[in-house]
Amino acid sequence: MIFNRELTKWYVSHQRNLPWRSTKNPYFVWLSEIMLQQTKVSQGLPYYLKFVAVFPTVFDLADASESEVLKLWQGLGYYSRARNLHHTAKYVATELNGVFPNNYKGLLQLKGVGEYTASAIASICYKEPVAVVDGNVYRVLARVFGVHTATNSTQGIKEFKQLANSLLDVNAPGNYNQAIMDFGAIQCTPKKPKCTTCIYTRDCFAYLNNQIDVLPFKEKKVKVKKRYFNYLVTVTQDNTTIIEERKGNGIWQGLYQFPLVEGSMKMSRQMIAESSVYRSLFPTTAEISLFNTKEIIHKLSHQHLHTQFWIVKTNTLSAANQSWLHIQEKPVPVLIANFLSEFLKERQ
Ligand code: ADE
Repeated sequence: MIFNRELTKWYVSHQRNLPWRSTKNPYFVWLSEIMLQQTKVSQGLPYYLKFVAVFPTVFDLADASESEVLKLWQGLGYYSRARNLHHTAKYVATELNGVFPNNYKGLLQLKGVGEYTASAIASICYKEPVAVVDGNVYRVLARVFGVHTATNSTQGIKEFKQLANSLLDVNAPGNYNQAIMDFGAIQCTPKKPKCTTCIYTRDCFAYLNNQIDVLPFKEKKVKVKKRYFNYLVTVTQDNTTIIEERKGNGIWQGLYQFPLVEGSMKMSRQMIAESSVYRSLFPTTAEISLFNTKEIIHKLSHQHLHTQFWIVKTNTLSAANQSWLHIQEKPVPVLIANFLSEFLKERQ
């Protein structure tokens, strides 16, 4: 078996028709690769199309406000990617005259561009022979070559990178890199891979040794942290509410939300009424009721957010209030967007 020859042949007739593949413009390739990190192509594609329509050049993206960028990104998750994307667009536009670095090392200097993205851009746009290693690549190589080292261990990362680089088609590195990712996404899928129609049936270690379900091997994940979120959804008689920008370095920084009371356990109405956030916002009496009687559990990679939305009816406010239209124009986490669409539908 000559691994890369078989793969390149497979790619000719199986590759996905994706808009960023018809260009070598590093702006488009960079945009697509940032969006596709930790995201399936089918999920990222509509976002890519929206972004290139609104920001056809790196200068357009650089000129946008962070809020505009986050709003278009809303729903794609891992929002630090959007903030880094915006930062890098501004840097490329102002410091590099709109010209992206044209090699792996230079690309790696850009904020938000790690080894994976730098390899993808350098190989696709500039034919530099650097192999990408993403989840697809780990899976395909672990199965075909029978690599049992954990893909999330230091040793595993090193071994897989070496193996990937040794297999690279140095004459067409961009094509080869995209071929192996497509092969992982279409043929050698995580669950129920299409082994009976696979080009590697005669050689694949996992297939021949009945280890498809075992490979790739991963070390146990870190424990998922439970958090208890209570959003205070103010409703005034003249139909306004209170929203605020989420500050700090944690999740959703720069997105907007209702005032939040975070607890170490599920909170009761009484506990909410006694919280300092509530008392500073609503110094006089207000009526509190629970909107969702069943907790909403919003799952992120390392944390589960157990969420309750509390409706607080009052006319005395100690913070600035806004119209409901205002919040709909702001970037918000999907958790809040879902609440808003349900809540506002009910009030119509
Ligand atoms: N996933 C991320 N980038 C990709 C690309 N260029 N081709 C296929 N799958 C990908």
